[in-house]
Amino acid sequence: MPKNIAIFASGSGSNAENIIQYFKKSKEFSFPLIISNKADAYVHQRAKNLNVKSVSFRKQDFETGEEILDLLHKFKIDAIVLAGFLLKVPESIINAYPDQIINIHPALLPKFGGKGMYGNHVHKAVRASGDTETGITIHFVNKRYDDGNIIFQAKCTVEPHDSYEDIARKVHELEYEHFPKVIEMIFG
Ligand code: GAR
Repeated sequence: MPKNIAIFASGSGSNAENIIQYFKKSKEFSFPLIISNKADAYVHQRAKNLNVKSVSFRKQDFETGEEILDLLHKFKIDAIVLAGFLLKVPESIINAYPDQIINIHPALLPKFGGKGMYGNHVHKAVRASGDTETGITIHFVNKRYDDGNIIFQAKCTVEPHDSYEDIARKVHELEYEHFPKVIEMIFG
């Protein structure tokens, strides 16, 4: 039986798509469900193209987590990957999936983490800081934002002439290269 993994995504979903494509022929992993907190997120279109079920829940559903948990059980989900997911994961879900939820953060935690630090906000903060490198962090999810044990980090340079869009592009490249492999390593 393959391991069933749900992806949580709030926006474009390019990581979700990259992960699903990477494991397309896998016998070990299956990605039957995408969950979003945004009904109009582009990730739903990607899910449709990939023939993967996607469901969106309202913000308040992410406070108790009960309905989401029911759906995860219905799909026999074993593990969860947060790929650009911007809300806190409800405690009920964290408790139901101990050490089975991982997140990707687009910077080198513990720098540039915490509430409000997501997507381009992170890259703009990196740009403004004058740091000469940034990267990605993949970590376990606990009850606080960006705080769980770190599994993996990869770095890229920030050049003086890089815009935040340039930084975002470099970081996305690292994400596409490493995230599927780390999923394979952790959940395999
Ligand atoms: C990714 O860069 C991911 O690391 C980041 O959002 C982006 C989503 O892109 N996540 C966070 O900022 C979480 N704090 P995508 O929707 O194209 O995969």
